[in-house]
Amino acid sequence: MYQPALFLLIGLLFSATAMAESHEDALDPQRQAELETLLYQDCGSCHGMTLRGGLGPALPRDRMEGFTVEALAHIILHGIPGSAMPGWKALISEEDARWIADHLRKDNPLETLNTPD
Ligand code: HEC
Repeated sequence: MYQPALFLLIGLLFSATAMAESHEDALDPQRQAELETLLYQDCGSCHGMTLRGGLGPALPRDRMEGFTVEALAHIILHGIPGSAMPGWKALISEEDARWIADHLRKDNPLETLNTPD
């Protein structure tokens, strides 16, 4: 009973590793969901749950498009020295930061601050 289960588990681990290697630039859906929660809850605690701003500035898509993915990922990983914006590199990888940056530029629900709602 115990051994087949162990082999199954080892098999799953190997196939998961192989999958992670073959799709290096695509985060798995679970990690994407975790990062989305981080963005709207943790980042949202300062930037607003809808990114409309609070302690931190609003992060509308039109403004985020003014940054490259690399520049945004750098801000996210290292923070903005001398401000309340913290760096997140202890919690997320560079790939994670680029995913959030890409999300802010393309899948951001807040298109602009100029549209009345
Ligand atoms: C503790 C509060 C706080 C948290 C949490 C926080 N930020 Fe910030 N963030 C700030 C502040 C304050 C600024 C403005 C800093 C400045 O330029 O003076 C800022 C600036 C930024 C900027 C630059 C905005 C611009 O228009 O120049 C981006 C992008 C950003 N934050 C993204 C994020 C992301 C993504 C997260 C979560 C991973 C996050 N922030 C979490 C407070 C926070």
